[in-house]
Amino acid sequence: MSLDLSSDTSARPTTRYGSNSGQPLTRRDGILKVTGQATYAADNHPAQLAYAVMVGATIARGRVTAMDVEAASRHPGIIEVFTPDNAPAFAHDPDEKMPPFGFRLELLQNHSVRYAGQPIALVVAETLEAATEGAHLLQPVYETDEARTGLENGVQFDPQAVGVGGPPSTSHGNLDTAFAASETIVEAEYSTPAQYHNAMEPHAVVAEWNGNHLTLDMPNQALAMSCASYARYFDIPVENVVIRSPFLGGGFGSKAILNGPQILAIAAARKLKRPVKLALTRAQMYGPVGHRGQTWQTLRMGLSADGRLKAIHHRSISATSSFDDFLEPAANASLPLYAADALLAEHKGLRLDIGTPGPMRAPGEASGSAALEVAIDEAAEACGLDPLEFRLLNYAESEPGSGRPFSSKALRECYERGAEVFGWQQRLRAPRTMRDDNGLLVGWGMGTAVFPCPMFPAQARTTVRADGSVLVETGGVDMGQGAWTALAQIAAEALGLEAHEIEFRSGVSTLPDAGVAGGSGHTASAGLALSNSGLDALAKLAEIATNDPDSPLFGAGNIGVLPRGGRLVRRDDESRGERFADILTRAKQSEVIGEAKSMREPGNAEKFAMYSHGAVFAEVKVDPDLGQIRTTRMVGAFAAGRVINPRLVRSQYYGGMIWGTSFALHEAALIDHRTGRVMNADLAEYHVPVNADVPSLEAILVAEDDPYVNAIGVKGVGEIGITGTVGAIANAVWHATGRRVRNFPIHIEDILGL
Ligand code: MOS
Repeated sequence: MSLDLSSDTSARPTTRYGSNSGQPLTRRDGILKVTGQATYAADNHPAQLAYAVMVGATIARGRVTAMDVEAASRHPGIIEVFTPDNAPAFAHDPDEKMPPFGFRLELLQNHSVRYAGQPIALVVAETLEAATEGAHLLQPVYETDEARTGLENGVQFDPQAVGVGGPPSTSHGNLDTAFAASETIVEAEYSTPAQYHNAMEPHAVVAEWNGNHLTLDMPNQALAMSCASYARYFDIPVENVVIRSPFLGGGFGSKAILNGPQILAIAAARKLKRPVKLALTRAQMYGPVGHRGQTWQTLRMGLSADGRLKAIHHRSISATSSFDDFLEPAANASLPLYAADALLAEHKGLRLDIGTPGPMRAPGEASGSAALEVAIDEAAEACGLDPLEFRLLNYAESEPGSGRPFSSKALRECYERGAEVFGWQQRLRAPRTMRDDNGLLVGWGMGTAVFPCPMFPAQARTTVRADGSVLVETGGVDMGQGAWTALAQIAAEALGLEAHEIEFRSGVSTLPDAGVAGGSGHTASAGLALSNSGLDALAKLAEIATNDPDSPLFGAGNIGVLPRGGRLVRRDDESRGERFADILTRAKQSEVIGEAKSMREPGNAEKFAMYSHGAVFAEVKVDPDLGQIRTTRMVGAFAAGRVINPRLVRSQYYGGMIWGTSFALHEAALIDHRTGRVMNADLAEYHVPVNADVPSLEAILVAEDDPYVNAIGVKGVGEIGITGTVGAIANAVWHATGRRVRNFPIHIEDILGL
């Protein structure tokens, strides 16, 4: 039989038919969250719960020579003190990486200290207070080596890979020839600081063993992958591990990766035969759970006399730890966007005595585009061109070096609509020429936003029951971005239902694997699986009905059927059809189950460039006497495929633009190079923007119908907002003040003495 459901349930933005994709639904879990009914990992208190407190090293390099385990153990309420002398054994060697995302971990395997904040002991007690006191009593004694925490004393090396397995060097064209043919060469150095994820919810775990079965309540961005990793550490079958992660208070990449403290708590629970809870303190999140590594970047650009980019050479020195590699693929930000005859992006690594960095919202693109978009502004200035005009002249029609068509139409629309709404035409070219009524210097700047569209393997299940009810399931997490709301909309659309008409279950690893919530690819990956599982369920219903002489759909197999409001109807005559419930009841079936995996058409990624695009315009005001900088207005226009839920998508863009503001003006972890410790390991001194720092934000959703990215036409929206914003603000600061600041974040002292 032929069943053609796809054309009416896929990417066509005009088809609605009672489905509610495209509508600004509020979050499905919103009421639970605002009424305090949403339980986070550390809210769980199983019977017999014991409390673990991690002890972190207070030096950055050396050895622990003594700890007063006796004093700690004598303390009332202490159950066990774990140190390297009685450390749990693991089936996987923590000094070995576990691909794809597993890092080398500190699991008390020896007394050496490789960074400040490294776990050196775990104290478990009857109460959190007792465990905390016991931890203080340990009073570790160190033999301290000099900490290498800066560009001056770190050790540079040629990395094998950058990011998650990416090549350290990528090029096309002949760079020497292209520079030789250039009229003008612009070159400058940029730096970006270490940043920490600082999710509202700290890394936490409640671990409970039942024989060889392990149940974990923990925030986790990659349930199935993590189950597999824990199974290897503890030598149990993967199906014995259950992770429950119903709510997650921010992840940003840090909760997709296993970390030492959580594994130690799980090991403690096994040894003590009791459930154990561990929640890191805010300060303890600066070390063992990843961060965005520092970069030092150089951009050299060759330009023709008429302002065309001929050559781009982007280099990054990216910091990592002394014992493992995660390098910000910062230079790769220059690969996808601007046309040039020749392009080279390359990386060096820098070993420092710090915790291993990891992916943090827009890893690579955030730091790399911060430098690139300022460099582009400098190139425009060198050619005497308006920054928008320069970008319109130089953005690539196809992905540079690959020949794959780029979504240049969508990007052009982002430039044009953003500029129009912002009022860019009113901008005076020269810096320091615009002032407001109060005499503050006004600057307008812009940046291009671009982010790839990865997809992860994902699975889903749709059950249509004889009573007409529908259950859709996929084991993923909603880390605040509204994934479950959008995913339910996609699932409902495939079934011809409204999102409120379906039951949606997620957040636990026993459900079909929703893949990784990362890379801005979760909605596309899990959404496609849900959509396909719905289509599979409908196909099974159609199979029954079209072969049943008592059904009004009998014989419609060659014509095809469509789902409409809980009914299947004939494609050629929508008045003829019947309810899902009736089809199943007459067939005496209690349910049909649709199952699917998500996969991008493999050929499409070879033939077409896959990116979301955007353009961000920023206004800053600078006090000429005090150097105080305020972002007063931002407009971002973004094209990211089909918009499933404009409320949530806009909110993601706002989040990205606010994070970009943070990157440009506020955020940095500062290391005391004498001790190697982060000095501002708290939310008082680790600056992030508050409402007053972001008075006016606008996100324009540019419609884009991309039939190639996947069958539901969905791209990612989570990370792209950072990528254009950092440069836009830095460029606005230049326009306001005439000062080109290339080290982030921009400080008052960088522009004082105007
Ligand atoms: Mo993200 S840094 O892929 O959670």
